[in-house]
Amino acid sequence: LHSTQQESPLQGRSIVVTAGPTREKIDGVRYISNYSSGKMGFAIAGAAAKRGALVTLITGPVHLETPPGVKRIDVESALEMHAAARTFFQSCHIFIGAAAVADYRPAAPYERKMKKEAEEIEITLVKNPDILAEFSLQKSTKQLAIGFALEMQSDIDNARKKLESKQLDLIAFNFFDRKTSGFEVDTNILTLIERSGKTTELPQLTKHDAAERLLEVIEKQYGSKSP
Ligand code: CTP
Ligand code: CA
Repeated sequence: LHSTQQESPLQGRSIVVTAGPTREKIDGVRYISNYSSGKMGFAIAGAAAKRGALVTLITGPVHLETPPGVKRIDVESALEMHAAARTFFQSCHIFIGAAAVADYRPAAPYERKMKKEAEEIEITLVKNPDILAEFSLQKSTKQLAIGFALEMQSDIDNARKKLESKQLDLIAFNFFDRKTSGFEVDTNILTLIERSGKTTELPQLTKHDAAERLLEVIEKQYGSKSP
């Protein structure tokens, strides 16, 4: 056994990670989605499993292999991800929301294939449940809730607001830049903001290394919660 596996406060703890995009059905053959690759969430799940945690990875559609030792649950829509996640709210010790959950879904998806007729059509969208916020706002003092905030501007205040409004223990502010950080690329530039206000700026790292650094901070937080 690796020495970190024996010493990690995450050893034997159950951790739920959401990852990837969701797909929101427009009709039988079409959907709304985003460019999330799932790489960050999968890297976190793998890094947590290496530390001896019991990891459940709830993922939208991605082209990635399941990290060793991780239990994977495949879902498609935000509602499916929400339903899967809810079954773990009571029992998990740490919930990490790394998924790019679609904020809205078509209100009334057409079951069959929509036909091309009108020059203009409208699709009404309704809000999806906020999976991370729902967990976080009902969590016990022994549970941790970790989120991500992908922002276009280098404006970190939005991330701080999300930490506050969702009452998270930590938020990873993810600077969106097409080439170096965010969706699809292999690297990320994260700033980790803890509930205490403590802020750690990480350099551009592979998503694998960024996940390791994030897990180190989570280990410290969790370790001080349950010595
Ligand atoms: N999240 C979630 N369920 C949703 C939307 C977001 O669990 N329906 C989680 C994400 O996984 C992420 C965090 O909430 O960890 C922040 O997501 P983000 O899209 O940055 O923020 P939103 O609260 O959705 O606000 P907005 O998109 O308007 O910036
Ligand atoms: Ca959002």
